[in-house]
Amino acid sequence: MTERMKTTEYADERQNVTTLFSSVGIETPQQITIQQSPGETYDLEPRPEDNWVYAALLGLKELNRRLEVEGRACRHFITVGTGPGLDAIGAYHIFHPDFIRVTDINERAAQIALGNLRANLPKDSHVVSACSAGNLLEVDLKDWDTPTQTPPVDVIYANLPNIPAKDVDIKSSKAATYIDEKLLQGCPENLDRYLLALQYKFLQQAHKVLSQGGSAVIALGARVPYLAIHKLFAAAHLRFEELFATLKVQTQPEDVIPGYANAENERAVTFTFYDYDQVLASGLLNAPMTGEQMQQQLQPYALSSQQALVARQQGKRIGHIVSILRGIKE
Ligand SMILES: C[S@@+](CC[C@H](N)C(=O)[O-])C[C@H]1O[C@@H](n2cnc3c(N)ncnc32)[C@H](O)[C@@H]1O
Repeated sequence: MTERMKTTEYADERQNVTTLFSSVGIETPQQITIQQSPGETYDLEPRPEDNWVYAALLGLKELNRRLEVEGRACRHFITVGTGPGLDAIGAYHIFHPDFIRVTDINERAAQIALGNLRANLPKDSHVVSACSAGNLLEVDLKDWDTPTQTPPVDVIYANLPNIPAKDVDIKSSKAATYIDEKLLQGCPENLDRYLLALQYKFLQQAHKVLSQGGSAVIALGARVPYLAIHKLFAAAHLRFEELFATLKVQTQPEDVIPGYANAENERAVTFTFYDYDQVLASGLLNAPMTGEQMQQQLQPYALSSQQALVARQQGKRIGHIVSILRGIKE
């Protein structure tokens, strides 16, 4: 676990997110400010470490370290489900790629993300950027606004929802939590029952798009056993590595926890949450460890989603493991 960090208040519409970037060691000469469209683009939490993108950027930094050791580079980066585009801005500073594409199922979010990326690039940057909208990687990846040949794709990152629902409005921020169940057909049952169907579809599509040796990276709430996560990557024919894991507060608990509790009822599996403050007080996370070790160590504080619902009603903060996972195409 990281130390507690300074609190920043984010305002609606335009937000200064410099602190979020500096909290992961990304320092820029200029402040980083972005446009948000409340109710449409993905909201940010005031404490940097409560945001998915905090863990994601630490994971992408670790990926960059590994790529350097492997003698590889990320020249072409794609983010899927970018929301306001912070992952793309972070990837620019981490990898210094030549090409960045942002995508989202919500067209306006993708356009806002591209605007946010471009507004925060240094004036002398030669990066070629573009946005696409649609389901996962079922989008046109070739059109750039400068005449150019698309280079092989080195890294594709996604932070996707897991909970199926009927007729999700993809133009609302509900699309950050729920997936239209129609998009999930054709997933192996042993993954679908753990709500890993969209992750599976994404990894399968990434495998087709990536260059040999390229990396598909997902930010996953590891509320499921790591055995299921290993199976997910094996089913997509990608070699599995974990880049980073941490315990994160469950954001939007009123939406998310009931979604998992329903699935728990229907599918006879358990989704694991934790009493966040009890875990912090235990001191167990003071030593560095993998997500899999964390899952074992935190067993005494584990809550099923049904138990997490009750604990939440008692006013407790609920946490879950976040894992940033790499699948390598071999
Ligand atoms: C949890 S938010 C993540 C936002 C941002 N990447 C972050 O980490 O802060 C999930 C995003 O995925 C988008 N999304 C949901 N389903 C998608 C799909 N099938 N294909 C592409 N994007 C999707 C949502 O619109 C939302 O912006």
